[in-house]
Amino acid sequence: MTAIVGFGGYVPERVMTNEDWSKLVDTTDEWITSRTGIKERRFAADDESTLDLAAIAAERALKDAGLTADDIDEIIVATDTPEVYTPDTASFLQYRLGCRNIPTYDLGGSGCAGFVQGLDVARARIHFEPKRILVIGVELISRLINWEDRATSVLFGDAAGAVIMDSGSGRAEVLAVLAGTDGSKADILTLQTGGTRHPFTAEAAARGDHQRLDMNGREVFREAVRRMSGVVEDVLDQIGKRLEDVALIVPHQANLRIIDAVGKKLGASENQVYVNVDRYGNTGSASVPLALWEANEEGLIKEGDLVVLTAFGAGFHWAAAALQF
Ligand SMILES: CC(C)(COP(=O)(O)OP(=O)(O)OC[C@H]1O[C@@H](n2cnc3c(N)ncnc32)[C@H](O)[C@@H]1OP(=O)(O)O)[C@@H](O)C(=O)NCCC(=O)NCCS
Repeated sequence: MTAIVGFGGYVPERVMTNEDWSKLVDTTDEWITSRTGIKERRFAADDESTLDLAAIAAERALKDAGLTADDIDEIIVATDTPEVYTPDTASFLQYRLGCRNIPTYDLGGSGCAGFVQGLDVARARIHFEPKRILVIGVELISRLINWEDRATSVLFGDAAGAVIMDSGSGRAEVLAVLAGTDGSKADILTLQTGGTRHPFTAEAAARGDHQRLDMNGREVFREAVRRMSGVVEDVLDQIGKRLEDVALIVPHQANLRIIDAVGKKLGASENQVYVNVDRYGNTGSASVPLALWEANEEGLIKEGDLVVLTAFGAGFHWAAAALQF
């Protein structure tokens, strides 16, 4: 048996509203709200980095679990906006938290599905050998995107979310995790410059390519709805449950229209689906653990509740987890 024994989250203090964006690029609150449901998002301060966000969320999860850094046996960090290019953000986090010399890993490049993929990896690791694993989703996307590109910049925000997984029982038993990838759609959402195909050169930097997120918004939208709803149905099938048994679905918070379409496709009622995209925008791999932490803090999840997480991300990846509180 594998369980989540602690939850944590963190959003930076700086609030960036749609109104603020409308002063920087040619956009309006009306356009952003009607297309995405986003009203505001949080941006990290200039002196904050990915590690700072991750460390606060991790410390909150440790406190929530009644554990210390010494109790952690492994760290998995899901992020597309790492502290540095190499080594992994998780190495820095291990030292910052004051953990022992435990193994650490980053799941990089999985976009917004990274955290739920991390749960899958952690669950398998714990099954193999009982241990406590800190799993984090963290993004500092505001430092990576091109602020002048209104088609992508207004969608994102910075945040971190964390859970601690353990063998045995805990606050939420992880009943099942499913994940899938369609690599033929790897090009519908990419940031290409910096890898070996398009190395980071002075010319590329001068063109701003290192911040150019190429996104086929409509195709991402279609795939997101299809895959996030499909994987919820599959995970429920696997545990022999139906939608009526689910107290709360916690979807990746990319866009309210995507969330609504997923809910509709599944036949879920409005109060069965958690939403905080209006306050934080799309926080990438931090989105699901942040939403899970907030739903918990808001008292929306009670003992006995079945909660389903579902996410999609660049790759094209999708993943879902069923949690029995
Ligand atoms: C991006 C997205 C909101 C765009 O919505 P849409 O309904 O497809 O947009 P539309 O086709 O109606 O509008 C596009 C037009 O709006 C313009 N536009 C784009 N961003 C804008 C902005 N911030 N403000 C005003 N206009 C904007 C475009 O330039 C385009 O103008 P044109 O028709 O003159 O060329 C939508 O496709 C989406 O949410 N996709 C999924 C994206 C996602 O979740 N990405 C993250 C994945 S982890």
